[in-house]
Amino acid sequence: MSEKIVFLNGEYLPVEQATVSVLDRGFLFGDGVYEVIPVFGLKPLRVDEHLQRLQNSLSRISMDNPYEVEEWKRIFDELLERNSGDDRAIYLQITRGAHPVRDLKIQPENQPTIFIMVLQVGAVNMSDLEKGIETVTIDDFRWHACDIKSISLVANVMLREQATQSGVVDAILIRDGYVTEGTASNLIMVKDGVLYTPPTSQHLLPGITRDLVLELAQENGVECEVRQIAEAELESADEIWLTSSTREIAPVIRLNGKDVADAKAGPVWKIMINIYQQYKQELRQA
Ligand code: PDD
Repeated sequence: MSEKIVFLNGEYLPVEQATVSVLDRGFLFGDGVYEVIPVFGLKPLRVDEHLQRLQNSLSRISMDNPYEVEEWKRIFDELLERNSGDDRAIYLQITRGAHPVRDLKIQPENQPTIFIMVLQVGAVNMSDLEKGIETVTIDDFRWHACDIKSISLVANVMLREQATQSGVVDAILIRDGYVTEGTASNLIMVKDGVLYTPPTSQHLLPGITRDLVLELAQENGVECEVRQIAEAELESADEIWLTSSTREIAPVIRLNGKDVADAKAGPVWKIMINIYQQYKQELRQA
């Protein structure tokens, strides 16, 4: 099966045939929310948690959820069956739909646009992951609603471009002297064997991977503490990780041109990434 089939407003279509109005508020205003759910085999990872976060995002922007949880799952299953691949991700976005007049005012009668596609993310290659990534810290100038998984990502694009222009892979964002997250990931710092991550707030996305890593760490006797991390603490961190659905747990080996510890993926990362891979394997076979 080579054709890419997507879901658009109740229909399963080849991607070339899936079209949306230029008057769609997603296109005109970035007025919508999205989710990225990793899939192993035919099994979406933490699907209930992703759907709960989708619900939170929709509620925050005053939109109704078009489907019940079971209906979402049925659509995911069908779409995964209709597309080939093994390690993949479901991308879904819901916008407030099209309206003939360009007006910020919400039109309650508008039908949402519901779009889902399967991303071919490919299996995370452990030896590539272990090489780690270089980062810089950048002032987090985003809005006070980063807990919404909004499709309006221009600020994140600008921040990522700033990192790219600095010759590194990603940025660690700093607000008022404290770490928030990466441009598309959460941050976990390791110091003296303890994992630290900032609390959820309106300044960062409540990451599903972050929560899973913390949960798996605790189950395996690794101590975790959720608290603010000052920018200065990063300099003496033993390890820094960026977590996300597509990147899993990426070790940061350089920050602002300086090595993080000995500039290698650290021992706690090695333990956690193995536990994480094991968890995925069990999901795949469940
Ligand atoms: N992004 N913070 C931001 C700003 C993100 O965009 C993401 C994920 C995360 C990590 O969340 P999770 O662990 O649930 O993936 C944190 C996805 C992967 C994306 O935009 O492609």
